[in-house]
Amino acid sequence: MPKSKIKGVGFYVPDKVIKNSDLEEIMDTSDEWIQERTGIKERRWVEGDLTTSLMGTYASKIAIKNAKISKNDIDFIIFATLSPDYFFPGSGVLLQKNLQIKEVGALDIRNQCSGFIYGLSVADQYIKSGMYENILVVGSEIHSGGLDKSSRGRSVSVIFGDGAGAAIVSKSNDESEILSTHLHSEGKFAEELAVIKPATTFWIDKIIDDGDEDGEGFFPKMNGNFVFKNAVKRFEEVIFESLNHNNYTSKDIDMLITHQANLRISQYIQKKLNIDDNNIFNNIMSYGNTTAASIPIALYEALKKNKIKRGDLVCLAAFGSGFTWASALIRW
Ligand code: ACO
Repeated sequence: MPKSKIKGVGFYVPDKVIKNSDLEEIMDTSDEWIQERTGIKERRWVEGDLTTSLMGTYASKIAIKNAKISKNDIDFIIFATLSPDYFFPGSGVLLQKNLQIKEVGALDIRNQCSGFIYGLSVADQYIKSGMYENILVVGSEIHSGGLDKSSRGRSVSVIFGDGAGAAIVSKSNDESEILSTHLHSEGKFAEELAVIKPATTFWIDKIIDDGDEDGEGFFPKMNGNFVFKNAVKRFEEVIFESLNHNNYTSKDIDMLITHQANLRISQYIQKKLNIDDNNIFNNIMSYGNTTAASIPIALYEALKKNKIKRGDLVCLAAFGSGFTWASALIRW
C-alpha cells in the first residue's frame, strides 16, 4: 500500500500586527489579563482586500516551492476554514482559480480548529488508496472581521488572529510517513462554541423578522471554561490514542505541535505527557488562535527553526468547535 508524507509546508500572515495594548484601546481588557490567561502577546489582522482564499494561496505557493513540485503536479485540493470567502462556493475552488491549477477536485472542510488534521487525514487516505499522489492541504482563517470588538465580546475577541498555512501531502518513497490519524466529534456540544448567523436556521429574512439590532448572533459565542476543560481532556486522549495505536509512548515524541488555542492548554498537556520544552512548539504568543491555520503555521516555524529533523516522531493534535478533536502521528 502506498504511504503518504508531508513534503512541504508554507504559511502566510497579514502584515498588520495587533498588540494587546491596541485591544486595550477598543475594549475593556488588559495586556496583563490576556497574557496571563492565554499567553497571547499579539496577533495579525487583515487589511484591504485580503481574503481567506488569497492568504491560503500565498501559503500554498511557499508549500509548493518547499515540496519542490510544480502546481501542475497537484491532483487534489483540500481547504479547511470556518471563515470562507463566501457562503458558497467553498474557498477550495477560489484557491484553485488563484493558483491557476488544472481542473482537479477541490474539497472544503468545516471542522474549525481540527480542520487541518481532518484534511491531512483525508489526504492520507486518498494517497494510501492510490487515487492521488500530491494533495494540497490548506488551513486559512480571517477572524478579525467577524469578532465582537466591544467589551461584550472580549473573552473571545482577544484570542483570535488571522493567517494561513498549507502543506503538500505526497506519496512517500522513503522512510517519512504519516503513521496514523485519529478523528473525533461530539455534536451535542455544537453550540458551546459557535457562530449561528447567518445560516439556514437564521436565514436573512428570519433575521430581519426577528430583529437582532446589536448583531449578537453574528459573533462567535464561547463557553470558555467548558471548552477549556473539554480541550485538555480530549487533547490528552487523542494524543495517547495515536501513540498507543503505533506502540509508542509520550517519551518517543520528538516534537508535539498542538493547535494553538491557549498557551495554558498547551502547557497543561505538556505537563500531563511529561514532554520537555525542546519537544513542544508554541507560537500562539505571536499569532493568537488562527483555528485551521494554527497547526501548519506552527509546523512551518518549527521546521524553519530546525526544531524538526528527518526521522523525528512528530505528533499533531487539535481540539475545537463541534466539538471536534484529532491527532496525526508522523515519522518525519
Ligand atoms: N479581558 C479582561 N477580562 C476578561 C476578558 C478580557 N479579554 N475576558 C474575560 N474577562 C473576565 C471575565 O469577565 C471574568 O470576570 P469576572 O470573574 O469578574 O466574572 C474573568 O475575566 C474570568 O473569565 P473566564 O471566562 O472565566 O476566564 P478564563 O480563565 O476561563 O479564560 C478563555 C477565558 C481564555 C477564553 C479560556 O476559557 C479559554 O481559553 N478557553 C478555551 C478556548 C479554546 O480552546 N477554544 C477552542 C478552540 S477555538 C475554535 O474551535 C474556534
